Amino acid sequence: MTKVTARKVTTHVLQEMKNRGEKISMLTAYDYSMARLVEAAGIDVILVGDSASNVMAGHNSTLPITLDQMIYHGSSVVRAVSRAFVVVDMPFGTYQGDSKNALSSAIRIMKETGADAVKLEGGKEILESIDRILSAGIPVMGHLGLTPQSIHKFGTYVVRATEESEANKLISDAHLIEQAGCFSVVLEKIPAKLGAKVAGELKIPIIGIGAGREVDGQVLVIHDMLGITQEFSPRFLRRYSNLSEEIQNAVRTYIQDVKDLEFPNDSEQY
Ligand code: KIV
Repeated sequence: MTKVTARKVTTHVLQEMKNRGEKISMLTAYDYSMARLVEAAGIDVILVGDSASNVMAGHNSTLPITLDQMIYHGSSVVRAVSRAFVVVDMPFGTYQGDSKNALSSAIRIMKETGADAVKLEGGKEILESIDRILSAGIPVMGHLGLTPQSIHKFGTYVVRATEESEANKLISDAHLIEQAGCFSVVLEKIPAKLGAKVAGELKIPIIGIGAGREVDGQVLVIHDMLGITQEFSPRFLRRYSNLSEEIQNAVRTYIQDVKDLEFPNDSEQY
């Protein structure tokens, strides 16, 4: 079993983990109660993902979530955490156009949530925003491969970078991001061989979601890995629990107990 130390996880600690070959564990969380559980279990990194748009708000993409909503989720998570490194996703529309807007959005996230870093999707196209945010001393995590904020451009959630030209662009973007000063990159839904190549070439930690085993760490959306969501079943997803069934069984039992006057019993009333 992996030993969890009380030492606060920082960008420096994550880099040390990569250097000594220790894998980095990362999960999403969007609220205080879940973040407390994830932190207590010893996770290294919590991502306040814009997947909140799907799993918390019920939208069918990550595009609608707003900066204020991400700040609400981020600050709720940060209040629960003392050891894990907390990264907040910058939502769609806050960094793709004007790099000054990107910086002011990143500053709001850092000031109003207390998070440790922000994450942005994309490579060369958003380099000016990455540079400007980094120049303010804000740690940036990149995100390449399947970038859900670009779903309308891709038109599908199939595996990315299977063609040589897209794979070459991804490799070149990963190097650009590293040279700019990002402390880590997420690679989503790409061939395992490509994930391994990028993790081998880059010095910074590469966190995969559907990018194979040979990267420096793994991330999953917590609602998916706990089996709270059922409709989403990509090959890379391992379900570690079936909370959907457990929650429904508990709720059904409660309903029945209420109807049958079984709840509350004598010791559950005043
Ligand atoms: O928003 C999110 O949950 C993410 C992960 C899929 C990496 O970006």
